[in-house]
Amino acid sequence: MAHQTNPSKGPKIIFHLPFISFMLLFLVGPTHAQVHNLQTYIIHLHPQFLTTSGFSSRLQWHLSFLERTILSNNGTPPSSRLLYSYHSAIEGFAARLSEHELAVLRATPGVIAILPDHRLQLQTTYSYKFLGLDSSGDSPWARSKFGQGMIIGVLDTGIWPESPSFNDHNMPPVPNRWRGICQEGQSFNASACNRKLIGARFYHKDHRKSPSSPSITEYLSPRDAHGHGTHTSSIAAGNSVIGASVVGNGAGEARGMAPGAHIAIYKVCWFGSCFNSDILAGMDDGIRDGVDVLSLSLGGFPLPLYYDSIAISSFRATERGILVVCAAGNNGPIPYSVANEAPWITTVGASTVDRRFPAIVRMGNGQILYGESMYPRTHLSNDGKELDLIYGGIDGMDGAEFCYNGTLLKNRIGGKMVVCDRGPTGRAVKGEIVKESGGAAMILANTEINEEEDSVDVHVLPATLISYAESIRLKLYINSTIRPTARIEFEGTVIGKSRAPAVALFSSRGPSLTNPSIIKPDLIAPGVNIIAAWPENLGPTSLPEDSRRVNFTVLSGTSMACPHVSGIAALLRSAHPSWSPAAIKSAIMTTADDADHLGNPIMDGSKPAGIFAMGAGHVNPRRAMDPGLIYDIKPDEYIIHLCNLGYTTQEIFAITHRNVNCYRLLSKNVDFSLNYPSISVIFKRGTVRKMIRRWLTNVGPPNSTYLLQGNAPQWVKMRVRPERLTFSHLYERKDYRVWFISRKRIAEKKVSFSQGLLTWVHNHQSQYKVRSPISVTWAV
Ligand SMILES: *[C@@H]1O[C@H](CO)[C@@H](O)[C@H](O)[C@H]1NC(C)=O
Ligand SMILES: *[C@@H]1O[C@H](CO)[C@@H](O)[C@H](O)[C@H]1NC(C)=O
Ligand SMILES: *[C@@H]1O[C@H](CO)[C@@H](O)[C@H](O)[C@H]1NC(C)=O
Ligand SMILES: *[C@@H]1O[C@H](CO)[C@@H](O)[C@H](O)[C@H]1NC(C)=O
Ligand SMILES: *[C@@H]1O[C@H](CO)[C@@H](O)[C@H](O)[C@H]1NC(C)=O
Repeated sequence: MAHQTNPSKGPKIIFHLPFISFMLLFLVGPTHAQVHNLQTYIIHLHPQFLTTSGFSSRLQWHLSFLERTILSNNGTPPSSRLLYSYHSAIEGFAARLSEHELAVLRATPGVIAILPDHRLQLQTTYSYKFLGLDSSGDSPWARSKFGQGMIIGVLDTGIWPESPSFNDHNMPPVPNRWRGICQEGQSFNASACNRKLIGARFYHKDHRKSPSSPSITEYLSPRDAHGHGTHTSSIAAGNSVIGASVVGNGAGEARGMAPGAHIAIYKVCWFGSCFNSDILAGMDDGIRDGVDVLSLSLGGFPLPLYYDSIAISSFRATERGILVVCAAGNNGPIPYSVANEAPWITTVGASTVDRRFPAIVRMGNGQILYGESMYPRTHLSNDGKELDLIYGGIDGMDGAEFCYNGTLLKNRIGGKMVVCDRGPTGRAVKGEIVKESGGAAMILANTEINEEEDSVDVHVLPATLISYAESIRLKLYINSTIRPTARIEFEGTVIGKSRAPAVALFSSRGPSLTNPSIIKPDLIAPGVNIIAAWPENLGPTSLPEDSRRVNFTVLSGTSMACPHVSGIAALLRSAHPSWSPAAIKSAIMTTADDADHLGNPIMDGSKPAGIFAMGAGHVNPRRAMDPGLIYDIKPDEYIIHLCNLGYTTQEIFAITHRNVNCYRLLSKNVDFSLNYPSISVIFKRGTVRKMIRRWLTNVGPPNSTYLLQGNAPQWVKMRVRPERLTFSHLYERKDYRVWFISRKRIAEKKVSFSQGLLTWVHNHQSQYKVRSPISVTWAV
């Protein structure tokens, strides 16, 4: 999802206690009121009942539930209430039901769970709010032909097939195993697909009655009216485009992470949101069509796994060897905000890149404020001109400090440079309002909540964004003089001068609300100011008033971070076809960087980033290709893990479709700990000792010895046995155990944390470093 700033999400907000959050989730659930009080529900069925039911097809079986349940339907057959019949992502269907019918269905044998459909966020549908830049062009990775033959399935707002990023120059033929289709629809012919874009489908069953946005045309087809899906697809696997730029900024060669991979788009988001029933239908088809990687730049709240459609359907995908990569969410820096937390999902947070667009403010007193903007240089005559400066809030009109529409007076701001505080409305839209109100230029001032937010925009008038600290200096200057003036100096694109990567302020943070025994997010990837493909029917700010046309624009969000990792996963899979999804994820995590490009710790604001901000660290594709050792996980092992979490048989069944006897499983696996590439240890009151076990598989040089390098977390004694692992052939497995002994007296009634590292280093070839972050939690 792309980053949408909302002042209510500032760090001052007290985060919800887990219990309260779950309550909220239920309240938030069914948002989609229908005529006759019908609501959409997703009905999970027990697959065993199909074999005993005597129905010849799943569809017939699914319909039989509706025929039994729906007694009156205004003369139309009950089948008209069926939205989707699912076969692969889950066993079951989606249908519109009344409360009474719901109660009847609940009591019907074969029904194992009924979940209300809910809406997930895809926040950049209003993408004018966030703009940015792309790191893909300068990656040696992107210049390689890796990723060939791979198919990345993207669940999003659709695609703009004519974008030069989706040309199929140099692309190999469509793989024989591909079973997808190019679904025709409004302004979308089957001929829109080619050897790059090999599949396109759309799912709108639950969107017929969605509130429509008057300013945006929606296409009843895979065509993208919003830009988000075009942007994310091109980040994952866009083809090379020479001379790509956003109105002159960031000019260079644009390429996706896996330029040789094919793309299949599943349009599940409409008018800025995505319903679970549509997402499930997209996952259902994607699994059958034969994708290798599924990329979901969307999400909602943290949910218990058995209520989370993305978690459930991605378990099925994982069983079939498909790696599922999801955005962590944009609700940072609030703790416990990370979404898409299932251990089989790769959950990606966002980081900054070292490309900047300086647009400094030179104040009338000669002093300089640092700002950034992608407003194109030499566009208007006001560019760089010294102008009278006015603070929107100076008049005291309600909302004028935030430059809300209708609050700025033409006679006060006409021809001037207007200072607007950041606040809840979109950044680019403020520029449009200042322009409509007669202002000549704008300085956007971050507030205390936004601090140093640095997502830039392709503003419709000369404008720049300054930090909170700079905004105080600016306002002091305005107060200090009778006639304040300023000019904005646009310096274009500067690469490599700033410290990066750093964790993006908005990137959702762990620990995981529903499963603290797994560290989430898993890692971070570029998500601030990312340049990628853009539909030609939208301006670069996607404001309806913006009549400029571009093939690329800039966006920020974990939405942009996710497809970077999806593309890299496709590269790994193409290089190592036999690796499981867990092996690929392990390779990406254990090789991630924990230092920035100057060798200093990756920062999170003014302090070094912790594990709950960056997970294993910042993705490093070159090292991920050759990790030396991997932590592999078989699908069955996730089930033991769910047993360990205390899930009931029914809950585990809802996720995995398997009947498990946890009691037996756990007694056979007393030492079990999920072979996850990162390590989370929780000391409940009264426990002082924990043991975990991990298995490493050799995928590096056959004869190898690895030595332990451990950094014990504070207040913990850590003992690892053995401290040396010797492998003599490829794919050999070795295990080790770690004992954690708490030295902390839990006196205070407060959760506390500490963190450490456990690294296996090859004794001769130091490029092989297999690093796992460790998080220790003292629960109350
Ligand atoms: C789709 O095909 C029809 C008939 O060939 C053509 O008139 C139309 O322009 C095509 N539409 C697009 C979006 O390519
Ligand atoms: C501001 O309000 C005016 C009058 O209602 C409207 O015409 C205009 O489109 C609005 N501008 C923006 C950017 O929303
Ligand atoms: C500027 O002056 C206004 C009005 O006197 C005051 O409210 C505001 O706090 C001052 N701003 C700064 C940064 O001193
Ligand atoms: C976008 O790309 C298309 C196809 O390469 C090209 O015809 C068009 O002129 C480009 N548009 C802009 C605004 O650069
Ligand atoms: C690994 O070491 C063993 C025993 O030292 C030796 O027999 C074998 O040939 C070595 N394998 C490789 C690939 O070097």
